[in-house]
Amino acid sequence: MELSESVLLRNGVYAGTVTAEGSTYRAMVNVGYKPSVGLPSERTLEAHLFDFDGDLYGKPLEVELLEFIRPEERFDSLEKLKEQIGEDRKRILHFFETTGHPLAEKGKSGKGDEA
Ligand SMILES: Cc1cc2nc3c(=O)[nH]c(=O)nc-3n(C[C@H](O)[C@H](O)[C@H](O)COP(=O)(O)O)c2cc1C
Repeated sequence: MELSESVLLRNGVYAGTVTAEGSTYRAMVNVGYKPSVGLPSERTLEAHLFDFDGDLYGKPLEVELLEFIRPEERFDSLEKLKEQIGEDRKRILHFFETTGHPLAEKGKSGKGDEA
């Protein structure tokens, strides 16, 4: 979704949760302009949910940001960006485990789906 510049929130990657249709999922959240993806982007908030397989397009979501992981960066290639997102994913799963978050037990497999 678009996120106005007037929302004071550091651009970057966060560990968070998304609640939709009565369920809460762990998520990787990216806030910013996606500078690695060619065309200039609007400022967006983008959430990739773990353990979710479905379509929430156009549905109201509640996003909770729990931990700042790193600032948004510009990568020279999509491979490097993908590699970094793999690292983010590990750090975020680790965050849920080490903080004893109630959702930590859900996906020890580390498998996740995007939304
Ligand atoms: C965990 C995570 C971290 C991301 N980090 C960056 C980043 O550092 N720099 C960047 O340009 N885009 C970043 N992105 C955004 C990706 O560029 C974007 O998700 C992907 O290109 C798909 O964009 P689209 O849905 O607009 O096509 C990140 C996305 C996620 C989910």
